Amino acid sequence: MQKSGRSCLVTGGAGFIGAHVVRELLRLPELEDATIVVLDDLSGGFVENLPDSPRLEFVKGSVTDSQVVDSLFEKHRFTYVWHLAAYAAEGLSHFIRRFNYENNLIGSINLINAAVRHQTKRFVFTSSIAVYGSGQVPMSESLTPSPEDPYGISKYAVELDLRSAHELFGLEFTIFRPHNVYGEFQNIGDRYRNVIGIFMNRLMQGQPLPVFGNGEQQRAFSYIGDIAPLIASAPFVDGSANETFNVGADQAMSINELVEAVSAAFGIKAQVEYLPPRIEVDKAWADHSKAARVFKTHHETPVGEGIRRMADWAREVGPRSSVEFSNIELPQNLPPSWVTATKK
Ligand SMILES: NC(=O)c1ccc[n+]([C@@H]2O[C@H](COP(=O)([O-])OP(=O)(O)OC[C@H]3O[C@@H](n4cnc5c(N)ncnc54)[C@H](O)[C@@H]3O)[C@@H](O)[C@H]2O)c1
Repeated sequence: MQKSGRSCLVTGGAGFIGAHVVRELLRLPELEDATIVVLDDLSGGFVENLPDSPRLEFVKGSVTDSQVVDSLFEKHRFTYVWHLAAYAAEGLSHFIRRFNYENNLIGSINLINAAVRHQTKRFVFTSSIAVYGSGQVPMSESLTPSPEDPYGISKYAVELDLRSAHELFGLEFTIFRPHNVYGEFQNIGDRYRNVIGIFMNRLMQGQPLPVFGNGEQQRAFSYIGDIAPLIASAPFVDGSANETFNVGADQAMSINELVEAVSAAFGIKAQVEYLPPRIEVDKAWADHSKAARVFKTHHETPVGEGIRRMADWAREVGPRSSVEFSNIELPQNLPPSWVTATKK
């Protein structure tokens, strides 16, 4: 077993998935004594999401700031990097293209450059099934990605850059493509993303649940507790180096079924507000057999159970005020409900 004296960087560690990954890292025997540095600009995360630990150091800063990134690497010479920082509002990414590419692509390149310079042993990256685009289900790692929105394009560009950095500089990577992850610590105050969080936030405030189109679009909602351990353990799993893995649940459900499940968890009969359809993939689910084979596990928390756990947590923290994105670059074709949001 590899022992520590090692340091780890988790970007976006104060966010939803990051906060769970940090907890898993603190538990890993391979990282006993290792220092874990979280770099997060708190644009979507919360310091309160982080656990108390003398091994944890929080740095408020952006991955887009190459000086911050370089000085952190100078100081800690990170052995392992988990890069989760991103603004993942896929639907909104059409309208905030420059921001999307600067934050999600250039920010990632700052980290890859620093990881190469400092001979980081493994760079773990959370991509997304957004790289696949539409029309190919179940999405399998053997398909050639064809992303259809700026968010997916930036994720795929980072994937390609990691491969290229591996070829030329030997940087080892593991790429995860999660989808529709939900659970405790999710930012329920983001009105542009994470349908389960949006539904819970609105239900707790007695507001109707917004559904784009007829609600028959299908997603496989994936409980965070089934995914975070895989992401955290990647550097220590044989066969995971320089590989890409879909991770998440197999079982798909419609948004209309989700309305029922979330209503049941709160014991409230929800009102639904049907909105015009927006540009989005109709059916998105993925094949997880590769991750199951290499990580030797595939656990799927039943969606009713996962939603109940998240609902218990959401009731405890209470509703969050929904924050608007103030710098829309292209207002054309913005879904009407978001136009109102940005003008309020
Ligand atoms: N939640 C999902 O269903 C899902 C699905 C596929 C991929 N992902 C990916 O997983 C990662 C984590 O997503 P999440 O759902 O936890 O989102 P999140 O918003 O909760 O977490 C992202 C974190 O990154 C931080 N951040 C954003 N831009 C930053 C920057 N420039 N510098 C430093 N920190 C920055 C935010 O403050 C936040 O804490 C993202 O890369 C996302 O694209 C998420």
